[in-house]
Amino acid sequence: MENLYLNTAKLYDADNRAVFSADIPFYQERANRLGGKTLELACGTGRITIPLAEKGIHIWGLDYSSSMLEVLEAKVSKLSEESQQNIHSLLGDMTDFTLSEQFKLIFIPFRSFQSLENDEEALQCLSCVHRHLEDDGQFIINVFKPIKEIGEWWINRNEHLDFESTLEGGEKVRRHSIKKAYDLQKRLLFTDFIYRLYKNDGIIEEYHDSIRLRYFYGDDIRKLITSSGFTIKEEYGWYDGTPVNEGNEYIFVCSKA
Ligand SMILES: C[S@@+](CC[C@H](N)C(=O)[O-])C[C@H]1O[C@@H](n2cnc3c(N)ncnc32)[C@H](O)[C@@H]1O
Repeated sequence: MENLYLNTAKLYDADNRAVFSADIPFYQERANRLGGKTLELACGTGRITIPLAEKGIHIWGLDYSSSMLEVLEAKVSKLSEESQQNIHSLLGDMTDFTLSEQFKLIFIPFRSFQSLENDEEALQCLSCVHRHLEDDGQFIINVFKPIKEIGEWWINRNEHLDFESTLEGGEKVRRHSIKKAYDLQKRLLFTDFIYRLYKNDGIIEEYHDSIRLRYFYGDDIRKLITSSGFTIKEEYGWYDGTPVNEGNEYIFVCSKA
């Protein structure tokens, strides 16, 4: 298992972009509507897991990055006892897990499915989801929608400022990314993240991590989902119900076929 975000997990939650908050009410509403147990795959620092648990949702969060789960655990330890009891965090691989529970809602938010680099891993994950989903449950998956066919235009070897925010202690954090390479055959994108912490406008710390993400065109991901025993019931382009052809994301709401 990889320990993704090894160097930068502690700064992951500093992200203040709309894409980092717009999905929380969406998943919360779905979990409430369905009732029962919820499973978030690739839960990371609990950005979504924790607000759902605070709303009374009984949620399991699985991730294979011990660095991300450490951040989650630290946040959980500060919650009320009732909220703490609603959360079960698990170190595990979403392509290969067996839990004793079945779930009304299973979701893989914020493009985490794109960490699985090939069809084999993707299908293993979807098969695990299928086994753990109740017959009348829902599975929700999000990947980003390439604005056009990936090519040289995607590359940006100069640092691009993704966000700037202020931490509780008053330090400023800026994240830059470098889009350094792509592989058209494997459909992979290679990005570096650079986080810099500033105090009184001087840099005090700098951290780097690299990620590889698989990209999908609409019909490829639809085929993977439906060949794994799911029916796609709803598709959105954003969390407010924007139609899929108008938004920047693919959000698929699925049931067992
Ligand atoms: C972009 S973060 C998303 C975290 C969180 N769900 C959120 O929305 O903020 C991607 C997460 O996927 C996790 N991940 C990637 N591949 C995984 C796998 N095979 N099994 C479990 N977790 C995985 C990483 O460790 C990381 O925490």
